[in-house]
Amino acid sequence: MTIQTKPLNPHFGVEVTGIALSDVTAENLFPQIRALFEEHSALLFRAQDVSDEKHLELAQLFGPIEDRQADERKPGEKFEIPKVSNVQEDGTTSGEMDLKTLNLKSNFLWHSDSTFLPVPSLVNILIGRVVTTEGGATELASTRAAWAMMPEDLKEKVRGRGIWHRYSHSRRKISPELAKLPMFNKWPDQHWNAIWENPVNGREALYLASHAFRIDGYDEAESEALLADLTAFCTQPAFVYSHRWSVGDVLLWDQRAVMHRGTPWPYEQPRTLSSICSSVTEADGIDRIRIPA
Ligand SMILES: [Fe+2]
Repeated sequence: MTIQTKPLNPHFGVEVTGIALSDVTAENLFPQIRALFEEHSALLFRAQDVSDEKHLELAQLFGPIEDRQADERKPGEKFEIPKVSNVQEDGTTSGEMDLKTLNLKSNFLWHSDSTFLPVPSLVNILIGRVVTTEGGATELASTRAAWAMMPEDLKEKVRGRGIWHRYSHSRRKISPELAKLPMFNKWPDQHWNAIWENPVNGREALYLASHAFRIDGYDEAESEALLADLTAFCTQPAFVYSHRWSVGDVLLWDQRAVMHRGTPWPYEQPRTLSSICSSVTEADGIDRIRIPA
């Protein structure tokens, strides 16, 4: 089979056909996938048969597996693949105001994952496991395409500046109670350059997230207003791809150049996506966003 691609959006993202992800290894097909990832920022593979083990293997090809619970796990407990889900341990779905649902709702704010971690993530590989009959889309916005087309006066306001990120900041927007949970307060504030230059092709992207709370040189209110303006510009329909899930879909994107969000669904319907993030390494150009303390 030959690999073929079809655009998801005129500016970024492709659906890839002619690849069974179960066949992918470091030598076989991954180099082509990685090249498409650098070029297009988001890749969709439909109707894939990817086990949890294979999911982990694919993520490891991109970089070290991100493990936010490493410090909470007792000896002998294994890494479990994170689930974006409203299904509770007893199989019922969580209620509208449960903390689990509120946390899902924080994912409805545009963000890049893990900008609040000391080592942020390169990619999120999402797999549709249980899907809904309506709603529950995952939407992607290219901050690379948006930055390239942004008016110069808006670019000027953020170029060359650092942006501060904090996990609990995005949770506080949904619920102050949620923001207080220890899991959202484990890491110190992170300070990253506003622009992430791709080390392979030199293309720049705005590195933005709902976790961002301050831009250097602006006070809190000014920062909030500017972050809102930048996010609004980047998430205009022209720069967005909205994915409606089917079981077996695999959607992955470059966190350096894409923001994403979930959309609501009727919460009595179970919905589960498996999600593994891989961390960036020096080869992915983390030096481009690092700011000396
Ligand atoms: Fe996310």
